[in-house]
Amino acid sequence: MCTFAVLLLVCASAAGVYGLDNGLGRTPQMGWNSWNHFHCNINQAVIEGTADALIATKLASFGYKYVNIDDCWAASRDSNNIVQPDTKAFPDFQGMVDYVHGKGLLFGLYSDAGDKTCAGRPGSLGYEKEDANRYAEWKVDYLKYDNCHSAGSKPETRYPIMRDSLNATGRPIFYSMCEWGVDNPATWAGDVGNSWRTTPDIKDNWASMISRADLNNEWATYAGPGGWNDPDMLEVGNGGMTGPEYQSHFSLWCLMKSPLLIGCDIRNMSKDTLDILTNSEVIAVNQDPLGIQGKKVMVNGTSEVWAGKLQPIAPSKSSFAVILFNRGLSSVTITGEWSAIGLDASLSCDVKDLWTHKDMGKMSGSVSAIVPSHGVVMYRLNC
Ligand code: GLA
Repeated sequence: MCTFAVLLLVCASAAGVYGLDNGLGRTPQMGWNSWNHFHCNINQAVIEGTADALIATKLASFGYKYVNIDDCWAASRDSNNIVQPDTKAFPDFQGMVDYVHGKGLLFGLYSDAGDKTCAGRPGSLGYEKEDANRYAEWKVDYLKYDNCHSAGSKPETRYPIMRDSLNATGRPIFYSMCEWGVDNPATWAGDVGNSWRTTPDIKDNWASMISRADLNNEWATYAGPGGWNDPDMLEVGNGGMTGPEYQSHFSLWCLMKSPLLIGCDIRNMSKDTLDILTNSEVIAVNQDPLGIQGKKVMVNGTSEVWAGKLQPIAPSKSSFAVILFNRGLSSVTITGEWSAIGLDASLSCDVKDLWTHKDMGKMSGSVSAIVPSHGVVMYRLNC
């Protein structure tokens, strides 16, 4: 009961009035971000060329819609505290946003809940309202909000300020929290952001990628439509992992309902990279309407099974995505038992291999395959 004035704010918040209610992120966000490949070496030509490439490669038609600039676009604040872009790198900022929109894509920016961004550019702490308004004027669709230079104050207090400032603009702006898992955001960020990082920064190597997957796996039960765990952006195509390793990376991110933000230079990517990023059956697992984060269900040394429930396609009564995952150094046979996956032992299921696209026929009790070193075999079961 909200009988005391002092409780009004709390009650309003519980009712969602001050919560995140922007209607976005019903499935995990898909797009591109500049950081993993370009770091601070960004400019208008890179961004507009990337927008062109999203269309030319057809990545956009697979769902990759956000074109997100990461750190290093902002240069200063003017005398009214309005943030100013680096005009050398971005001579026509509004023109660039309009260009991206003109291609039918969405435009994202980056800032920081501290005095400065991680690369030392102007941060938004204390200027949340001014910055949110500026983003809305530019017609920004997405904000990644970082956590550097915060003088040790808690993200729980700083991140809702930007949420409220974005909400107050009236423009739906996807709110991607990037506070690296500090204070376990999965447990409190559901009404703050549309996604929250669960990990430190990913690097383009096997050890980094699997450790991000493991950390993110811990928070599986907290993800769902409107709010996603984020184990960081994709490294697929950046050159530091083998083909099977990138396939594992993409498969795990899709099963975990992670944001699919491409982090390579899509203007110059290989066919192998494009083939991984455009596997529509694996993307469909990520974009499944139920939004249930799949998780690790069996570990036997370096052999693992990961699985998650999907919306069944009639006449099936239940459907699952299953990954047989080999972290070891040689090929091995891995078996996913129905009991581990969460299926009734009596069920028989149609099995589809999502990387070879072959129908494997009906199976009962378990599914097995020889899995290459550091690779996956990924199935959809329709039961
Ligand atoms: C932090 C974030 C990265 C990236 C950089 C930019 O490290 O976690 O994803 O945005 O800052 O400086």
